[in-house]
Amino acid sequence: MSEIILPEVELNIHTPKNPTEAVVVENYVCTAESSPNIVRHITLDLTGTELDGHFRTGQSIGVLAPGEDHRGKPHKVRLYSLSSPTKGEGGNQHLVSTTVKRANEEVDGTFYTGVCSNYICNLKVGDKVKVTGPSGKRFLLPENVDDFNFVFFATGTGIAPFRGMILELLESGFKGQVVLVFGCPYRTDVLYPELFDRLEEEHENFHFVKMISREDRRPDGSKYYVQTAIEDRADLLDPILGSDNTLIYLCGMKGMETGIYHNLAKKGFMGYLRLKGQPSTEDPNEWGWKEAKELLKPSDRTFEEVY
Ligand code: A2P
Repeated sequence: MSEIILPEVELNIHTPKNPTEAVVVENYVCTAESSPNIVRHITLDLTGTELDGHFRTGQSIGVLAPGEDHRGKPHKVRLYSLSSPTKGEGGNQHLVSTTVKRANEEVDGTFYTGVCSNYICNLKVGDKVKVTGPSGKRFLLPENVDDFNFVFFATGTGIAPFRGMILELLESGFKGQVVLVFGCPYRTDVLYPELFDRLEEEHENFHFVKMISREDRRPDGSKYYVQTAIEDRADLLDPILGSDNTLIYLCGMKGMETGIYHNLAKKGFMGYLRLKGQPSTEDPNEWGWKEAKELLKPSDRTFEEVY
């Protein structure tokens, strides 16, 4: 396998103590149909700030919501993965975008609204936002992308960095294989469906695999999850995952990594993994979830961002 050469990136040009101001130029819902899980695509203009031109796809931008928390302290910075490619949203180098889900939930009869995600989702074109960054130095595409194939696993808004990375790869004429495995509860929750369906039509080396968890069931009655694609779409994934020059990236809800690593181990794709400690038995099918979680860690061919 070729050496993985990660680009040098700039970090923390602006910090929470010293933020700069971006201007909202776009804010739209990024599901095709009405969905109870409202996810929005927000584009920010960095023109005139020191951040302009300094983000790479895969990095995150920090947002400071105005106001104070229940202890009277200013809200802490929240990090959002960029969903734009390095050359900028829509090819405009001054613009970056992100993908934000309104975090609203009821716990024991109390309704909580996510401060920063609702602040961002309510922003109007022309509004100014305090931002920081760039953040993140490993969850990046390598400089030598042409040496690799890429398999991206995303749940929900974990798709954000992969939108940027996939646009970056396909728009530069990348010839290797690119797979996006995306998991969400219902078909109406698929994010950027038109974009990814179009890219799949236009590029024979791009494959968009949707794993919908709450509609159909797998033959054994279990849910379709991103990790079950390793079995359910073995026709597509076996040759790609089995190739020595494939890198995998996962982004989304904490816990997804264990399912993916366990299913990779069951299929013998150990190049993506590093073992921490000794397994109780050689057969991965015999490992329970807890053992898989403690044992299986990402190798240098695996890029993980879970939250
Ligand atoms: P479910 O909630 O039906 O169990 P969203 O962020 O839009 O809610 O989507 C997250 C998706 O990830 C859902 O389809 C959810 O399924 C699924 N999911 C939940 N737990 C896991 C897990 N441990 N591994 C992979 N996917 C998961």
